[in-house]
Parts: sequence; structure tokens; C-alpha cells
Amino acid sequence: MEQQQKKILCVGLVCLDIISVVEKYPEEDTDSRCVSQRWQRGGNASNSCTVLALLGARTSFLGSLAGGPVADFILEDFQKFHIDVSLISEHAQCFLPASMVISNIHTGSRTILHMNRNLPDVTVEDFSKVDLRQFRWIHWEGRNAAEQVQMIQRVEMFNSSLAPEQQRVTMSVEIEKTREPLYQLFPHGDLVFVSKDVARHFGFGTAEEALRGLYGRVREGAVLVCAWAEAGAAALGPDGVLVRSESFPPQSLVDTLGAGDTFNAAVIYTLANGGGLQEALTFGCRVAGWKCGRHGYDGIGDQFGAQRT
Ligand code: ADP
Ligand code: FRU
Repeated sequence: MEQQQKKILCVGLVCLDIISVVEKYPEEDTDSRCVSQRWQRGGNASNSCTVLALLGARTSFLGSLAGGPVADFILEDFQKFHIDVSLISEHAQCFLPASMVISNIHTGSRTILHMNRNLPDVTVEDFSKVDLRQFRWIHWEGRNAAEQVQMIQRVEMFNSSLAPEQQRVTMSVEIEKTREPLYQLFPHGDLVFVSKDVARHFGFGTAEEALRGLYGRVREGAVLVCAWAEAGAAALGPDGVLVRSESFPPQSLVDTLGAGDTFNAAVIYTLANGGGLQEALTFGCRVAGWKCGRHGYDGIGDQFGAQRT
């Protein structure tokens, strides 16, 4: 299969986002009306799939899914965006994780309350069913890190079995939450996304400081990327040159839910299509900034999408 025809796979969470859009963040123990309410397919890996698909990449999602009507809503939505879900691992007896999101229309802030009752993460066994020859890039949202390291090792073995002229599968990981076990993902992946929450947790005040401070944790040759909301994003690669992009704030900030997932997708999309690091960061900030000016992800395809590759 031609490299460009191969798909991009995202491994991680899909959940239901129940979003209440408010004019003003509510006081505790009050009863108020909101501007609008909607259901949206959520979860970092699932959101990144949406954006990758809108940009024009052939995209697959690997995650766990419960049964029932909410799962049907999720599956229909994946189909709407032409995201391949054939790898999904079904758990009919489990409850689908959900987030209650309060989205402030005046500041764009999103306050998330998340709950996962009993849906397990993707296992090494689920991942063993993936035909790696179909993919040019695999992205892991950091979750059950110890198992995810084993999945990555499987891809490393696959890559090392390829003939020199065959293109390897590029791997990226996202370390977003401040959970100690996730930090074992730093030395894995060609590209590592570290969030500002994690950077702050390590005591860094800017993306640049975080990159210099954390680069020693990534493996030789890897690129470390750190997004920092309105401060844009920065990246550091093996040549030691720090690459930066400013942010591209929309006219008015409406909805920052999934801004990071959008940024990650646009960076991956650019690099997977042969673009450079500066181009990827700038495109990531452009798409994510534009997204913050409207609800959800609709419109990204019209604004930034290419022909389906
Ligand atoms: P998240 O909190 O969703 O993980 P980040 O804060 O890391 O997202 O932001 C990801 C990217 O989204 C940033 O690099 C930036 O380009 C864009 N972004 C996020 N918030 C804003 C904002 N307030 N103004 C402009 N761009 C933003
Ligand atoms: C946004 C998001 C939401 C989801 C939450 C889970 O980045 O993926 O869609 O509810 O984070 O933490």
C-alpha cells in the first residue's frame, strides 16, 4: 500500500460530552437557564480523529465502547466524519464514560466533570489485532501507560522488520494529565505532546522552559511539543533548536473544549504529510485558535481541509 493511502490511527478515549453553554458561570446551589445544550462525541483521541478526518486524512479510532443508545449516537457520529471504527472493542455490559461540560460563551472556558464507571481501556490484546501495515502514523492518548508501552514496543518491532525502502509507522504520544504513571511514556514515540498542566506540575512557567527541562526524558531523535493556550506552542527536536508559534486568537473566544486535541491533530496531519516542524506548529495553532471561535469542530474542513488523501 502507498504510504499516502495509509491511515492515521488514534488510540484512547471516546465518551459522551453533555455540554451546557452558559452566559455566566453558575453559582453553587442556584437554578439557572443556559443558552443551549448539546451532546457531542468527546474524548481526546476521538476528538483528534474528528479533526484529522476534517482536514482530509484517512483516520481510524481504537478505543473501548459500551453498548446501548448512547453508544449508537457515538458510532453514528464517527460514521458522519468517515472515521473507521472497525477496531473498536465493544463492552456491552459497561457504561459509557461521560463528561458534563459547562462552556462559558463569553470567556470560552470549559469546565469538565468526567466520570468513567467501568469501561476498561484498550488492552495489549485489543491492539494485537491491529494490522500495522494499514497505518502510517499511530497516536496514543496517554491512559493505561504500562500497557501502551507494550503496544508501542510491538510497533517498534514491526518497524525494525521492514526493509529499508519501506516507510515505518511514526508514533506519537500525548501526556496530558498530571498522573505519575503517564510519565513513563516520555521515552516512547517519535513525537511527544506534553500539556501545560504537566509542565506546570513539574514547575515550569512557559512552554520553552518545559521543553528544555523535559527534553532529557524523551528518546534519542524524538520531538517534544508543548502547547500553552493563548501563548501558542513550542517544540524541541534533536538539533536543539527551539521552534515556536504564536497563537491565533479568534475574534471572540467561544469554546476551548478540545482545543488541545485539535492542535495535536493538526500537528500530526502536517508532519504525516511531510511538512516541517515550524509548519506543523503554526498550522496546529491556526486550526486550534480558529476552533476556539466556534462551538464544536464543524467548519474546520471547509476552512482548512484538503482533498481526502
Ligand atoms: P487544552 O487545554 O485543550 O489542552 P491548550 O491550552 O494546550 O488546550 O491549547 C492548545 C492550542 O489551542 C494552543 O496552542 C493554541 O494554539 C490554541 N488555544 C487554546 N486556547 C487559546 C486561546 N485562549 N486563544 C488562542 N488560542 C488558543
Ligand atoms: C476534551 C475532552 C472532552 C472530554 C474530556 C475528557 O479534551 O477530550 O471531549 O470530555 O476531555 O477528559
